[in-house]
Amino acid sequence: MPPMAPAVPTAGVGTPLHPDALARFVDRLPIPPVWKADGLRPDPRDAGKQIPLYRVAMREIQTRVHRDVPITRMWSYGGSVPGPIIEVHSGRGVLIEWRNELPTQHFLPIDHTLCGAGRDRPDVRAIVHVHGAKAPPESDGYPEEWVVPGKRLLYHYPNQQDAATLWYHDHAMGIERLNQYAGLFGMYLIRDEVEEALGLPRGEHEIPLLICDRFFGQDGQLRYSTSGAPESPWVPEIYCDAILVNGKLFPYLDVAPRRVRFRVVNASNARFYDLSFSNGQPFHQIGTDQGLLPAPVEIKSLSLAPAERADLIVDFSHAAGEKIVLKSLALELMQLRVGAAAPGGRSAPLPAKLRPLPKLREAAAMKRRTFTLNEYQDPGSHRMLMLLDGKRWHDPVTEKPELDSVEIWSFVNLTEDTHPIHLHLVRFQILDRQPFDADEYLTSGAMHLVGKAVPPAPNEAGWKDTVQVGPGLVTRIIVRFEGYAGRYLWHCHLLEHAANEMMRPYEIVARAPT
Ligand code: C2O
Ligand code: CU
Repeated sequence: MPPMAPAVPTAGVGTPLHPDALARFVDRLPIPPVWKADGLRPDPRDAGKQIPLYRVAMREIQTRVHRDVPITRMWSYGGSVPGPIIEVHSGRGVLIEWRNELPTQHFLPIDHTLCGAGRDRPDVRAIVHVHGAKAPPESDGYPEEWVVPGKRLLYHYPNQQDAATLWYHDHAMGIERLNQYAGLFGMYLIRDEVEEALGLPRGEHEIPLLICDRFFGQDGQLRYSTSGAPESPWVPEIYCDAILVNGKLFPYLDVAPRRVRFRVVNASNARFYDLSFSNGQPFHQIGTDQGLLPAPVEIKSLSLAPAERADLIVDFSHAAGEKIVLKSLALELMQLRVGAAAPGGRSAPLPAKLRPLPKLREAAAMKRRTFTLNEYQDPGSHRMLMLLDGKRWHDPVTEKPELDSVEIWSFVNLTEDTHPIHLHLVRFQILDRQPFDADEYLTSGAMHLVGKAVPPAPNEAGWKDTVQVGPGLVTRIIVRFEGYAGRYLWHCHLLEHAANEMMRPYEIVARAPT
């Protein structure tokens, strides 16, 4: 867990809102709409085939986060925050036209000293990345390929991947933390036959939960922390006091006394959640970032870093008539009102097996790479700088894995924070985490492992695209670089870190002909 540093919300006028003073559980949990396609268009990779085209506009909206809070300005995809659910089927490609119809002025504090956010750039820029998508490089949302208001992106998602809970969000160089904070995120669900054959809860019994934290003023407007330096307002982390679930503060949801499936996304800039239920009931995790686990894993609490997802089954059949609160440690997030037991309302049993997990073997690795996660006092700006392997975004590309090859990446965390590390395009498995002597490493550069290598907990021993890299540990992942050759990126998903150089390009190269 990162330290919960008290943040200072100084951007925004007027008095801060104290969410603790608000009435709880007075607003129903909104469910984002499932988006409808706008006809068919030729498949860019197979002109003889027609695939659905979705159109999503980014716009400024006015929305209510709580019954007793004045209307809030936000930026949305498709008219709501979170944006609509894009629901697709594995193996069936789609096109999405993402239109930037945002105003030309930003309402959050841009730091023009950050990489890619100079004064020569337009303030409002946007680019969409579907987090976890196996997408060709030209549709992945490379941070520098942003578009200004009035322009659009036409992206192709082949969806050649397993059923999983993905999500889409802004990725514009130097301002993605502000664009996402403004509301630019939503869920992207991939289905497939394996998942459909399991008889998991569906329809009204399958609930998306996108969780994020924000600061508000009493005027209802979003506030974002600043450093206090007018020329360089960037802050290294932001932990806010208002937690929104699907865009509402302290919502409630009526559920049936049966099994319910929750698709959970941590859409926060920096906050980690530790989810549990107020009645202490256990629940099952059935999927990770990149899809189904081999078997359900029973847990009582769930740690979720920014950008991580979890697919959960919660059985409310013993809680008919109860009111249960979903919590993160001591924080109350939302209330579940379990209905009265109805005859014939029983749900299918939880399957014992979900989807086989082919283990990537260490012996298959063609290359091993080691990266440090390091924290410096930047000599120029005197602010904190977190880097991956001591390199900045614009340093030459150093990671060029061969297409279809397997590699082991080790992250040596020399900082005191947990950093959620995300690789675009690929899915991976966590091998282990092993303690090492960070002080010795920092002084002499010698790697001295001091404890046992711990394999991932059962509920993270599936396909992942984001891994919690804890302090004082060497975290190892194993990756097959499959999909497409081309330029992608990997980064810390604490958005304030990513905005200030904790982000690196990498390039998948086609295998040389033999
Ligand atoms: Cu969630 Cu680079 O992205
Ligand atoms: Cu970080």
